[in-house]
Amino acid sequence: MNLTPVTVLGLGSMGHALASAFVKAGHPTTVWNRTPGKAADLVAAGATEAATAAEAVTASPLVIAVLLDDAVARGVLGSAADALPGRVLANLTNGTPAQARETAAWATGLGASYLDGGIMATPPLIGGPASFVLYSGDRAAFEQHEGALKVLGDAKYLDADPGTAPLYDMALLSGMYGLAAGVEHAFAMVGAERAAAFGAELLVPWLQAMAGVFAGPAAADMEADSPLGMQAAALDNIVRASRGENVPRELEVHLLTMMRQIVSAGHTSVLPPLIAEISGRPTA
Ligand SMILES: NC(=O)c1ccc[n+]([C@@H]2O[C@H](COP(=O)([O-])OP(=O)(O)OC[C@H]3O[C@@H](n4cnc5c(N)ncnc54)[C@H](OP(=O)(O)O)[C@@H]3O)[C@@H](O)[C@H]2O)c1
Repeated sequence: MNLTPVTVLGLGSMGHALASAFVKAGHPTTVWNRTPGKAADLVAAGATEAATAAEAVTASPLVIAVLLDDAVARGVLGSAADALPGRVLANLTNGTPAQARETAAWATGLGASYLDGGIMATPPLIGGPASFVLYSGDRAAFEQHEGALKVLGDAKYLDADPGTAPLYDMALLSGMYGLAAGVEHAFAMVGAERAAAFGAELLVPWLQAMAGVFAGPAAADMEADSPLGMQAAALDNIVRASRGENVPRELEVHLLTMMRQIVSAGHTSVLPPLIAEISGRPTA
């Protein structure tokens, strides 16, 4: 079977992992990187290294851009603009929805088909069962190359707006960074000595169970099952228990601010002391 030739622009950690997955899957793979010398193992495995981005784009109907940021991607793609018409450009470079829409307008104006994407994996996960990539933009282009794109992990098409994939990407990353902040705070509360066992035996199973509650069908019942007055009281205690020497205060500020907003919206009348203090209302 003849597999679609693919070009990968950018051989940083992620670009190298993507190119490697295409080579392993048997796709004729052309690679380009600003700094030479990062393609040796890929070339040894069968990839072709192009001397310029334009030469790389010319080699394949499907072009994957995976560069540092939007400005870099626009610069590299601009240098290959003459080669883009008639090709599918899947820009997996991290960026904002507005940047994606601008690049889409530019690329389609040249006569290319455009997909924007968000890679929801780290380089070692690429091609494995835990990896997925979000796409939005030209549906026909996605369907045409879905088989090749699935080499990287599950390929999830969202909608025709090129800004949707980066929006969802940013939203998922926000969830991840929020989780990371909570984990860091929890470790600081129990202290370094107990952190490893606490994390493996208690924190991870607890977070897995709670992820199901937040995102699952039970989410709508959350307020009924766990009344806000009760949550406000518990939050007050979390903040008190956190006020040890080694616990950073950043999450505390966020949690109290969030609860203040709930309180000021009138969702609870029973105010524990700390919440009352920051919301300016007396304790009930
Ligand atoms: N790594 C991850 O865990 C991960 C996960 C999801 C998404 N992503 C996204 O994947 C994209 C690439 O990330 P990465 O991990 O591969 O980053 P990286 O290792 O820092 O690689 C950056 C790439 O951009 C190129 N580059 C930087 N400045 C350039 C310039 N002025 N002109 C031309 N090329 C330039 C680099 O080329 P040189 O080798 O010449 O410097 C390299 O190919 C980013 O948008 C990132 O957000 C990464």
